[in-house]
Amino acid sequence: MLDSQTILIASALLLLLLAWKFRRLLVFFWHKGVLQFMKDFMSGMSKEERILDWVKQHAVVGDPQSVVDAMDVYSRQKEWSMHVGDIKGVIVDKVMEEVKPQILLELGTYCGYSAVRMAHLLPPGGHLFTIEFNESFATIAQQVIEVAGLRDKISILKGPSQEIIPQLKKKYEINSVDMVFLDHWKSRYLPDTKLLEENGIIRKGTVLLADNVICPGAPDFLEYVRNSKRYECTTYPVENIRVNDALEKAVFLG
Ligand SMILES: C[S@@+](CC[C@H](N)C(=O)[O-])C[C@H]1O[C@@H](n2cnc3c(N)ncnc32)[C@H](O)[C@@H]1O
Repeated sequence: MLDSQTILIASALLLLLLAWKFRRLLVFFWHKGVLQFMKDFMSGMSKEERILDWVKQHAVVGDPQSVVDAMDVYSRQKEWSMHVGDIKGVIVDKVMEEVKPQILLELGTYCGYSAVRMAHLLPPGGHLFTIEFNESFATIAQQVIEVAGLRDKISILKGPSQEIIPQLKKKYEINSVDMVFLDHWKSRYLPDTKLLEENGIIRKGTVLLADNVICPGAPDFLEYVRNSKRYECTTYPVENIRVNDALEKAVFLG
């Protein structure tokens, strides 16, 4: 028979082993659950409201670059944020400069970081439509866009992408788009790409730019565009961040 001391030591070792095995999950829970809850409780604001508050305090009204810079500083120094960020942002800027889209569609607005970053680079007369299904994120993003002075260049379309895409032509009078930035939930990349094709929103030459194709990853989307004769693909691996990731550019050939 095992004595109680042996059982206690064995249980402690088992707990340590489990903690080590699930350490990433525990760190995630600590940050997302415990720390986030404490910050929300103490500030009386959500993380996204704190980001907006920071932008209002640190950005210059009417200066989009100062808004982008303020959000970069916040996520680097205060709290991680799920926006595209300054490292991948450089790749997004590069593709924007190459494509020079007049009409740009974004899937996944969050607080408006990438919307401001991209709309700032649109040519005169260009417009960005960005789809967001979370009402409170959309409200925060609208205010961030106001601070950036880009209200006339960006329209937030509120609702799930799978419902909005089929309405783009009739309800929003968008015939086709020059570029699409996919940055919403990764499981929607492939079905929404097919919806964009079926509804004639993408045309010969439209550029799809998809973030996070490795982490968290969109394997079905990658397999589809890379194996299709209708797309010409380029991968932009991302270095200098803790996890390996990449953006995928897929030019629709019609
Ligand atoms: C990674 S964040 C977007 C970050 C943003 N593009 C940026 O870089 O600033 C993803 C956003 O997509 C939204 N989202 C996810 N799936 C969606 C869907 N099917 N339709 C609309 N919005 C969606 C989420 O609510 C979230 O705000």
